[in-house]
Amino acid sequence: MAQSIDTLVIVGVTGDLSSRLLLPALGQLLTREKKRKLRLIGVGSEDWDDAKLKETLKGSFETSSAKGAAVTDLVKHATYVQADVTDLDDVRRLVDGITGTPALYFALPPAITAACCALLEQTGLPDGTVLALEKPFGTDQKSAHALNEQLTRLVPEERVFRVDHFLGKSTVLNLLGLRFANRVFEPLWNREHIEKIDIVYDEQLGLEGRARYYDTAGAMVDMIQSHLLQVLAVVAMEPPATLDHEDVRTATASVLRATHVFGDDPAASSRRARYTAGKIGRRSLPAYKDENGVDPAHQTETLAELTVEVQNWRWSGVPLTLRSGKALAAKRSEIVITFRDVPEVPTGFGGKRPANVLRLSMGPDRMELSVNINGPGDPLVLDQTVFTDEFGEGQLLAYGEVLSGVLDADPMLSIRGDAAEECWRIIDTVRKAWKDDVVPLQSYPAGSKGPATWAPLG
Ligand code: BG6
Repeated sequence: MAQSIDTLVIVGVTGDLSSRLLLPALGQLLTREKKRKLRLIGVGSEDWDDAKLKETLKGSFETSSAKGAAVTDLVKHATYVQADVTDLDDVRRLVDGITGTPALYFALPPAITAACCALLEQTGLPDGTVLALEKPFGTDQKSAHALNEQLTRLVPEERVFRVDHFLGKSTVLNLLGLRFANRVFEPLWNREHIEKIDIVYDEQLGLEGRARYYDTAGAMVDMIQSHLLQVLAVVAMEPPATLDHEDVRTATASVLRATHVFGDDPAASSRRARYTAGKIGRRSLPAYKDENGVDPAHQTETLAELTVEVQNWRWSGVPLTLRSGKALAAKRSEIVITFRDVPEVPTGFGGKRPANVLRLSMGPDRMELSVNINGPGDPLVLDQTVFTDEFGEGQLLAYGEVLSGVLDADPMLSIRGDAAEECWRIIDTVRKAWKDDVVPLQSYPAGSKGPATWAPLG
């Protein structure tokens, strides 16, 4: 795709997200795409200057071994603007200083991003501007809708990038190939043949000093509302005619529109828990409620589970369970498709016949398919065998894929406005049930697999 953005403005360049995730990915992208001409303007409220920005760029680029002409050129011409982006004069000065066609990447808390966008309505923006926003997009369905309206007053929907780095993960992208470039899976990809689907993202990481954000979000908003529902949409979507953003995003949005809490019963279909003190390997973690900056009154969950149903012909009745948590015993990130039992097995076969399971792991990228075959030894005794393949890593980090879309103004990997609203709609009733204490907040020791009473998934 032709390069359409020539100036990347990172608003919030002094923050952790920028130096840890965005800049390394940018360095990696420019290392691969030596011909890309890009000017970087870093914006922050800190008292930095160009030299300090360049030093930060170099440090971040080193972490992704970035090198080459495009990288050197970007560092050489990078400039820093100190600005309070909630102040009209500062925002006007910032916009006036932009040359070329910019992408404004807001690596900022959502409330500040929204305040800045309100000011941009007054200053106006250069033609062709792209806006990229980090999650969470709004705080509920209503606020996401208001934010969407605000953004489309600034630029057309195709130029708004609601970033979800999970859509840039290679496993998620590989799903499109796996599903739609093979004869063997797609005919089975429906309620007739699939018993259930689990999408699990367990982490060993705890709060990592992010109380200011996480304590008002929790696992449901941090992971399920955004990332895991997007993964679900790719798992459950209808085949798009092309990989054009119109086709792909219409197909994923349509899945989300059909997605509802299973049985429309948030109490029966959701669970939440919070970690108490414990050890993960040699690391000791305090109880979540005792972590710095946490307000125990928020009752924030660090582990959430939600079962939904996609109410359409393909999926009706199939439970899709999404789960994510922090401070758990092991990292586990996978999509697990469990197939239904066969209708009949010839009498005479012995041995076990567990369900066929397809596991797609989201980093390291690997796929496993378990099948029942005649085992070694007695040929009439069935045995399970697992076919495994490790995929090569994607050419870019997830954030690199995201940035590549932003800089090419191709929104295929970004969340469309209506889909962002649907994701809130899906979880809003659950959050209400949790707030009303209809679903108890359970606990699990850090370093465990979760509450002992929760049945394992997948
Ligand atoms: C982020 C969440 O969006 O995704 C974090 O805010 C989470 O809490 C992270 O740890 C997981 O993604 P990844 O790609 O870093 O494993």
